[in-house]
Amino acid sequence: MKKVIVLVGSARKKGTYEAARQFLAIVGAGGAVESEILFLHDYSLKQCIGCKACFEKGEDRCPLRDDRDKILAKIDTADGVVFATPNYSFQVSGAMKNFLDRLGFMFHRPRYFGKVYTNIVFQGIYGGRKINGYLDFVGTGLGFTTVKGCCLTSLEPVSAHEQGIIDRTIARQGRLFLNALERSTLPSPSILRLMMFRMSRSSMKALLNQENRDYAYYREKGWFDSDFYYPTKLSFAKSFMGDRFDSLATRTARKKV
Ligand SMILES: Cc1cc2nc3c(=O)[nH]c(=O)nc-3n(C[C@H](O)[C@H](O)[C@H](O)COP(=O)(O)O)c2cc1C
Repeated sequence: MKKVIVLVGSARKKGTYEAARQFLAIVGAGGAVESEILFLHDYSLKQCIGCKACFEKGEDRCPLRDDRDKILAKIDTADGVVFATPNYSFQVSGAMKNFLDRLGFMFHRPRYFGKVYTNIVFQGIYGGRKINGYLDFVGTGLGFTTVKGCCLTSLEPVSAHEQGIIDRTIARQGRLFLNALERSTLPSPSILRLMMFRMSRSSMKALLNQENRDYAYYREKGWFDSDFYYPTKLSFAKSFMGDRFDSLATRTARKKV
């Protein structure tokens, strides 16, 4: 049995929540998926104060005491994860952004390899597609296998025409997500992802040392010597470009010291 959780960044049980429920009904229709909806508003999450203790010393050194780790423990148990948020002022909701800030260290030390991820944005009129792009990038940065997000649009009350479009969009999104969940292979990295990995690891190697949590994490994972975050076969072209990204990052970092 696979498990899918949706993190909802709305305080209301309206558009975003209903979309999450519809999505989970589709994903769970075959009976092989259990699911849970988690309201970020039900958890105590303080605002990041920017001390960077999580980056430098480790996430356990965060001075904020709240429910962050309860949410992370939920994600750890899931095979699939969805970030669902309303469009507020052309961005994710404050609750979702606050949550992402508290995960900031994980963009340095990604960990969700093998878990499938997507995002759902609910909006009144406009701006949601860019938010999908942002949240796609966020998912990939956290290590997830990312299925591109979808955007649902409706001014309240939802008209029959809008509901029809929403139903079709969610049905398609659910199928794409389920397909990815059933595939067990990790994807070959895109050039962008390969570049991000190689440039991060080479600049860390040149600039940091074992005292730094990012450096120690990369060393524990064997990432200073691997082709990518996980075993994968790189084409000749990607392998060549990967080496160039390493050299470029090392040269740039040496100029800083
Ligand atoms: C503070 C606030 C800002 C909003 N900004 C936008 C916006 O920039 N673009 C848009 O299309 N809708 C915007 N909306 C409309 C919401 O995205 C829309 O009402 C959505 O359904 C809210 O999700 P919910 O039903 O889950 O609460 C905004 C709503 C609020 C309350």
